[in-house]
Amino acid sequence: MKKQILFIWYSQTGQLSNMVHSLASGFDKEHCEIDYCQYKFEKRFPFPWTKRYFFNQMPEGVLGIPFEIDEQPIVFKEKYDLIIFAYQPWFLHPSLPSMSIIKNDKIQKVLKNTPVITLIGARNMWLHAQEKIKEYLCEAQANLVGNIVLVDSAKNLASMFTVQRWMFKGKKDAYFIFPPAGINELEIQNLYRLTPLIEQNLQSTNFENLQSKLLDAKALQVKPQLIPLEQRGVTNFRKFAKWIYEGGDKNSENRYKREWVFSFLLPKVATLLSPITFISNKIKALINKDKLLKDKAYFESVLFISNKF
Ligand SMILES: Cc1cc2nc3c(=O)[nH]c(=O)nc-3n(C[C@H](O)[C@H](O)[C@H](O)COP(=O)(O)O)c2cc1C
Repeated sequence: MKKQILFIWYSQTGQLSNMVHSLASGFDKEHCEIDYCQYKFEKRFPFPWTKRYFFNQMPEGVLGIPFEIDEQPIVFKEKYDLIIFAYQPWFLHPSLPSMSIIKNDKIQKVLKNTPVITLIGARNMWLHAQEKIKEYLCEAQANLVGNIVLVDSAKNLASMFTVQRWMFKGKKDAYFIFPPAGINELEIQNLYRLTPLIEQNLQSTNFENLQSKLLDAKALQVKPQLIPLEQRGVTNFRKFAKWIYEGGDKNSENRYKREWVFSFLLPKVATLLSPITFISNKIKALINKDKLLKDKAYFESVLFISNKF
């Protein structure tokens, strides 16, 4: 009998869709049958973004308040041998559409008692988003067996500029001293190299060693210096999200004023703090090496300890 696989995802610019199709292309079609469940919220999240609308999405995403999904793009089978849930982080949390998808009753039901691999396409900060996804998978009684992550090829500070130009102007190409925005095309195309590793475990219905095989194959990499940077960001985002959300209705002027404060501060603080924190984190890393290496090993695993952040 063919193994049944389901891919579930949303992608705004198509980057994550390319990752999904690259990974899916590696499955042996004689032994596997794949269903694709792609959500397209084109009206709700037009691309490129306006600044106002971009920051307007932050509070609900950070506070984990989903929007109602009225339509399922495909009719699922009742049971799958493997589900690949692909998503992107927004504001250090699972993106608002991905969070709304994974919290949806029908999706929770199909995830139940099923092995799940997460596939992440991010700029470079996905650790906390993955902790939230682990939490939602636990709620669904799903079994996380693997995680694959691709991030932008540019360094943290450079990608902060390239991602803004991409999101607000729709321009992805290299400019001035900056490389192209987003994940390297070749890395996306090469994702299918990981599929045979997954398929070995799928055929033996034992996923125990999958994540360590994926790690050996460099399917993800945690940069220890980014852990404290992300931890600080999450704390601040939560405070801002609560404050903005309490400012009133999603379209109210009062809430907009609060969003404006956040949008004014975020790029400046992030750009200013990035090099300072980079140096202070290097020092901390030397003093606190063991703890940071333990954290790195945890974030590279599929284990879930609640409130790690
Ligand atoms: C509103 C918004 C916030 C984002 N925040 C993050 C983030 O916190 N961490 C990160 O690594 N990438 C972040 N990104 C980049 C996305 O994770 C993703 O790489 C990019 O949007 C392309 O995804 P797509 O396949 O949906 O087009 C953000 C993108 C958007 C639109």
